[in-house]
Amino acid sequence: MSESSESDIDTTLTERATVVVDYIRDRVPAELHKPQVAVICGSGLHHLADALTASPQAEIAFSDLPYFPLTTVDGHAGKLVFGYFGHVPAVCMVGRIHFYEGNPFDISVFPVRVFAVMGIKTLVVTNAAGGLNSDYRVGDLMVINDHINLPGLAGWHPLKGANDPLFGPRFLALSDAYDLDLRKKFFAASATLKLTRPVHEGVYVFVSGPTYETRAESRMLKLMGADAVGMSTVPEIIIARHSGLKVLAISLITNEVVTAPMPRVADGLDLDPAAGKANHEEVIEAARLAGHDMRELVLETIKSL
Ligand code: HPA
Repeated sequence: MSESSESDIDTTLTERATVVVDYIRDRVPAELHKPQVAVICGSGLHHLADALTASPQAEIAFSDLPYFPLTTVDGHAGKLVFGYFGHVPAVCMVGRIHFYEGNPFDISVFPVRVFAVMGIKTLVVTNAAGGLNSDYRVGDLMVINDHINLPGLAGWHPLKGANDPLFGPRFLALSDAYDLDLRKKFFAASATLKLTRPVHEGVYVFVSGPTYETRAESRMLKLMGADAVGMSTVPEIIIARHSGLKVLAISLITNEVVTAPMPRVADGLDLDPAAGKANHEEVIEAARLAGHDMRELVLETIKSL
């Protein structure tokens, strides 16, 4: 890739995405060829796809799709499901590709380029995240209204390298990345459904993972202004914005991040250093418990588009 000119790379990315779209259109019913909305299901949130009406519906495994990366994480199945949310034709990406799985960025965000070529206008992204804001509890939701791209600020950026002007500009502004109207619609959906689950609005910080944060790292993230932390979403949002899509992103708070300083030996042995330690099973369980509300909210929001 390094020896290609910018236009070679442009053609290749567009061509690869077009090959995938053609492949999909050969395998799904014609009326599902132009979904308007794509939904990326976060850890343990694969049941979002159950809100798609059953008929007509089509599924394609990532492993069958040309150029598609494979997901290797428990709780992420790896398939595209096509159907309708209410009257809106849509596709759900069940299972996502994380940076920590070792894929180069251009591979891990490729599905979003495919969505853009397919003609999708709106991307809804869900994720499991650790709560940094001390008002957040396990099971709460957070509508993302801004992000901190920590790996991006340090040079690991999904738009690093030659720009593809067929998709978007070299220097993309992200000060309005998260669509105001979609955020309003999500809150309106929560009111319509009379859900008691708290819905916050705040800043998501993207970290590469796969380790959960140390206490000191968590305090740093909180000081930076982040309300929730996770290992996904931001690369997909950036590529969606670069491709001209509107985005809505929702975090499910699956654990309260430990930010208290590690107790010192001199503080006494009654302090438990392991208290509050994050683990993947707890994340999946919290997502399972909130899955129903998340599904109804996403469905209601999309129906109001
Ligand atoms: N940190 C990072 N990613 C996460 C967390 C967390 O605490 N919880 C769920 N995903």
